[in-house]
Amino acid sequence: MSSLNFKNASIVVVGGAGFVGSNLVKMLLKDDPSKVVVIDNLLSSDVANVPADARVKFCFASITSDQGLGAIPADVEYVFHLSCYHGNQSSIADPFADHENNTFTSLRLFDRLKDAKSLKKVVYAAAACAVAEKTYDQPTATTEEQPVSLVHDSPYSISKLIGELYGNYYHQRYQMPFVKARFSNVFGPGEILGAGRWRGTVHTVWRNVCPTFIWKGLHREALPLDNGGNASRDFIFVEDMARGLMACAMDGEPGGIYNLATGNETSILDLATWINEFAGNPTAPDLKPARDWDRSGKRFASTEKSRRELGFDAQVEVREGLRRTVEWTRANRELIARTMAAHSKQMQQAGAPLRPEYFPQGV
Ligand SMILES: NC(=O)c1ccc[n+]([C@@H]2O[C@H](COP(=O)([O-])OP(=O)(O)OC[C@H]3O[C@@H](n4cnc5c(N)ncnc54)[C@H](O)[C@@H]3O)[C@@H](O)[C@H]2O)c1
Repeated sequence: MSSLNFKNASIVVVGGAGFVGSNLVKMLLKDDPSKVVVIDNLLSSDVANVPADARVKFCFASITSDQGLGAIPADVEYVFHLSCYHGNQSSIADPFADHENNTFTSLRLFDRLKDAKSLKKVVYAAAACAVAEKTYDQPTATTEEQPVSLVHDSPYSISKLIGELYGNYYHQRYQMPFVKARFSNVFGPGEILGAGRWRGTVHTVWRNVCPTFIWKGLHREALPLDNGGNASRDFIFVEDMARGLMACAMDGEPGGIYNLATGNETSILDLATWINEFAGNPTAPDLKPARDWDRSGKRFASTEKSRRELGFDAQVEVREGLRRTVEWTRANRELIARTMAAHSKQMQQAGAPLRPEYFPQGV
């Protein structure tokens, strides 16, 4: 992977105000592109994530709308499609909102891009969780060729696969230069608890395990570990993910698929232990028993193909990434408290009130 690949390039990042999208935008800017157009309806993100930079144009709209599609420049060369309806639980609470923001989005975008002459690559954020086997036995690395089940736990998971299917179709039929990046679990600075609109469940605030544990750890709470924290994931630091997406855009084979992961398993117990260490949390984790319906299991992804074909390897160790994320959270406490506080009433109604100590300055 060489640097300065995107110099003078015309780039669109759909969902570019989001956690991964905003990190990608920041990294792309280092290559000095001519412009980066961010199209985002701020459904699960905060505008604070969009860098103030003359090369960044922000369009506050859904990519399903004429306004959103109209923001794609005529000379567009690279498109990163990172928008989704975040996340699994929200999609279960409102499958129609998921359809609108996670399935229809892909169809509208790809159909708009099918005749774009200047287009060099469309990179799609696919999800490894939609294909990985759910097991508590010794897992094997999930490869890009893993068979895909027709039975899924959430509309989110279905939508992520439909995005792959539509992209494959537009690639075959119209030669849209489509590359799938299958994400493992991403963590890092820029994932703002409570960012965006209320999406029907407490997971609007408590989005993912890393930011949730870090916030609770900084507030000296016992981190809840289902099944003793025995489940595992392949956690990848967001800067590595951004580099991987750029590698997909530069060197990914049109029609190809690449895992973006570390290839390593981290248990939730290790994750919690490290977070408590960096957050200075003296409270021991709350080890809970396994639940009958728990299907989370253990998993990690194979990195062989992305290493071989993209020259991509994750560089930041999980421990080091967590240390940096705890630092970022400390430095951004007020921003995060503000986005969480916007959902205080709904959290109360959902039976999960937010603690007053999260808001020392009031709300
Ligand atoms: N974070 C992970 O661990 C992970 C794992 C697997 C896959 N992914 C995928 O990576 C992508 C980025 O995830 P993230 O963690 O940054 O989530 P995120 O919620 O921070 O980002 C998604 C962005 O899409 C925007 N969006 C939603 N509907 C939109 C619409 N109709 N039009 C335009 N923008 C819209 C949201 O406002 C948000 O900014 C998603 O596609 C997600 O499915 C993420």
